[in-house]
Amino acid sequence: MKIKALFPALKHSEQVYLDSASSCQLPEEVIKAMSRYLSQGHGNPHRGMYSFSEMAEELLSKTRTQLSSRFGGSPAQYIFTSGTTESINLVANHFQGLANSNHSILVTQLEHHANLLPWMRLAKTTGAKLNILPLKTDGAPDLEKLDTYLSQNCLLFAVSHESNLTGLKLPLNNMIQRARDYGVSTLVDGAQAVSGSKPQFTELDCDFYAFSGHKLYSPAGIGALYCREPEKLTPLKLGGGIVNRVQADLTNSNYQLVEDISRFEAGSPNMPGIAGLSACLSFLARINLEEEVCRQKQLIQKALSHTRSLGFTVISDPESHHILSFTSNQFHSHDIASILASENISVRAGHHCAQPYLKALGHKHCVRVSLGLYNDEEDISRLQHGLSQVISILG
Ligand code: ALA
Repeated sequence: MKIKALFPALKHSEQVYLDSASSCQLPEEVIKAMSRYLSQGHGNPHRGMYSFSEMAEELLSKTRTQLSSRFGGSPAQYIFTSGTTESINLVANHFQGLANSNHSILVTQLEHHANLLPWMRLAKTTGAKLNILPLKTDGAPDLEKLDTYLSQNCLLFAVSHESNLTGLKLPLNNMIQRARDYGVSTLVDGAQAVSGSKPQFTELDCDFYAFSGHKLYSPAGIGALYCREPEKLTPLKLGGGIVNRVQADLTNSNYQLVEDISRFEAGSPNMPGIAGLSACLSFLARINLEEEVCRQKQLIQKALSHTRSLGFTVISDPESHHILSFTSNQFHSHDIASILASENISVRAGHHCAQPYLKALGHKHCVRVSLGLYNDEEDISRLQHGLSQVISILG
């Protein structure tokens, strides 16, 4: 059976969905699992002695185990968050309490704003210096300059595993090892990388790895942060469900947090989202990812040659298996995306929340086509036809 048939939003639809780097469609079994969870009885974990609450507790712990089976480490190293952005903000909040004007923080020029703005704010409020690892002329980060920045009393190196704009994958093993040699902590923004690979976080040896469910065929609003040493991390949120004891009186305002990983998850967790993520991890465990990546790469290569033959400038990494970004010196990217939308083809156009990177590449905007498990030859033929329409309407 074709994978597309497993996705209700696409199986009988005219829509050609080519924006999975932004957010993925959901498999039917994930939607059903969320519905089943809600129909069978929703409960707040850690709080009730009744079955709905106990079932939620079991689901929460099963999903942590599934994450550790897919990406390594132990379940106790995975914090549920609302997604990559919250995960990064959690880590930024921790470093806010450690940084001062003697420190530096390092990012690369190709970061998504989610892995840039929290560090810009931290630099502004603590006086720490924000260093940016520049790009070489070929658009890849200049690794020869890495040691220079790491040696500047650098507290943290925050780096994407894969660019959302160009699909360029970074040689993280080497970069993280070099950071470790200087005693620098590392955070990886893995939002784009987890759908096309199964990074093993303990092998990468990063301190933090942030990712979102909605770029992994799961619902929006659920994601995770892998943390190498969670016992050293400061919780971002304080509130219900995470304390052993609270004393509040005039002489002694004090609280003691629980010791397990749930101390990072104050408040009521997004249980329907966790039900979806759990079902999706089971779904993905049955997919042959290597075969899929090969298949998507053939599709993207086909789209890439056609796009070039029409005179567009391709700015994405030619090795990317799922991202094709291009610009035109004649037409605005929004016009291109609007015409494609009128042909029921969904792509993203604009700055893609990576303005410094786009600017360094010499552009203000571009069109991005991104593939998911469900895309097929027919989608690429429709894209080719759509792009020819763009030329005939705007040209
Ligand atoms: N980060 C998402 C994207 O690249 C929203 O489109």
